[in-house]
Amino acid sequence: MKIAIGSDHAGLNLKRAIHKALEEAGHEVRDFGTDDTAAVDYPDYVVRVAQAVVSQEAELGIFACGSGLGPAIAANKVPGIRAVTVHDVYSARSSRRDNNANLLTMGERVIGIGSALEVVKTWIAEPYSGADRHQRRLDKIAALEEVNRPSECGTRNAERGMGDAG
Ligand code: RB5
Repeated sequence: MKIAIGSDHAGLNLKRAIHKALEEAGHEVRDFGTDDTAAVDYPDYVVRVAQAVVSQEAELGIFACGSGLGPAIAANKVPGIRAVTVHDVYSARSSRRDNNANLLTMGERVIGIGSALEVVKTWIAEPYSGADRHQRRLDKIAALEEVNRPSECGTRNAERGMGDAG
């Protein structure tokens, strides 16, 4: 499987461990940085991973930082991304099976390397179920991206008598 990975400075060690484990498992890995411990801003790096996923250069993306939290918030601004912060095997499995998550974020300050690699292995191996009820919900999430585009919001707010659509 083609997998895009990245990290900020706080997730560098975890990313390196994930990179090694993925390659040993036979995956094709593209690393979008960062490559050293100098402090960087995670949105600058996670967006590269997210864009690789939505452009289908990679099937899935994984990003490591200190907590896993900020990069998921940032990545979910990219239309088509369903990013989740996961540090346990149950959530890893259900986020793929039920939510068709396509970008996993993890925090090096939250989880040990051994447990993190189990989460990654589980997340990658679990297929999306495609069950009707889950697809219906994912379709509604995708629709939120459309109705909440700035131009659409202006029109809708004007219809509700809120704000200026002009
Ligand atoms: C960096 O110090 C830290 O804020 C970042 O790695 C991450 O935890 C943000 O969500």
